[in-house]
Amino acid sequence: MSFDNLLIADDGAIRSITINRPDKLNALNGQTIAELHQAFAEARTEESVRVIILAGAGPKAFVAGADISELDTATPVQMRDLSRAGQDMMRLVETLGKPVIARIQGFALGGGMELAMACSLRIASDQARMGQPEINLGLLPGFGGTQRLVRLCGRSAALELCLLGTPIKAQRAHELGLVQQVVAAESLDETVNAVAQQLARSAPHALRGILDAIIIGADAPLEVGLSYETQAFGLCAASEDKAEGTRAFLEKRKPEFKGR
Ligand code: COA
Repeated sequence: MSFDNLLIADDGAIRSITINRPDKLNALNGQTIAELHQAFAEARTEESVRVIILAGAGPKAFVAGADISELDTATPVQMRDLSRAGQDMMRLVETLGKPVIARIQGFALGGGMELAMACSLRIASDQARMGQPEINLGLLPGFGGTQRLVRLCGRSAALELCLLGTPIKAQRAHELGLVQQVVAAESLDETVNAVAQQLARSAPHALRGILDAIIIGADAPLEVGLSYETQAFGLCAASEDKAEGTRAFLEKRKPEFKGR
């Protein structure tokens, strides 16, 4: 399927989804949210896709937030529906069952930071700026930001970033645990691609078990999460990749995982 506001490219098992509205700093209007939902739904069902890189086009921004020109005229009911559409899309990203890497090269503000937080890994350029500036519009984050930020970084940082709305530099985002890695701008693609290649070589059933156990299990009571982990562990053992992984170790060779 082709999209107006997204670029899709495949490199082996790695799918890149690039939000392509650079003249608006890749702001998320309703159409872009719907297209992202569709693109991620397709990536989930296509067996050949094992890893997704999510990026924003142009040098300035990953995503500079929800599209303020749409917020300006939206009715309360439209705002509620927009919030729900954004939350649904980001929950799909978060629970995709395949790793999603956010490539953050510039501004990741508002809905952009919320989208990045729904990804499995966030790798940022040292030039990136992240924040939840909705308070400056008389609003609060509406795409899950209040909930994911507190889970990723704790109450203190979540309150600071949402109440003050001041963007932070990449290094501070790293110290808060908001991004896993900060690299020089010129090394961003190389780093993101290396991580994606590593994930593409890994066993997809095991990746899925890890993602589900950590993302879904961690929000459940400990006993439920532990039980979830046990079931996923047992299920994984039924895969050919598990047999290949253990055999390759014992035969002192590199495993070749086939996703079966
Ligand atoms: N929604 C809609 N349009 C946006 C946007 C957003 N969230 N963020 C940027 N744009 C548009 C600008 O209106 C401008 O469009 P124009 O050229 O047609 O006037 C274009 O993108 C470039 O942005 P500009 O503000 O000129 O770039 P800058 O380098 O001076 O500033 C930012 C960059 C990110 C600091 C600034 O664009 C900004 O504050 N954006 C809004 C961030 C925000 O509040 N996000 C949360 C939304 S809920």
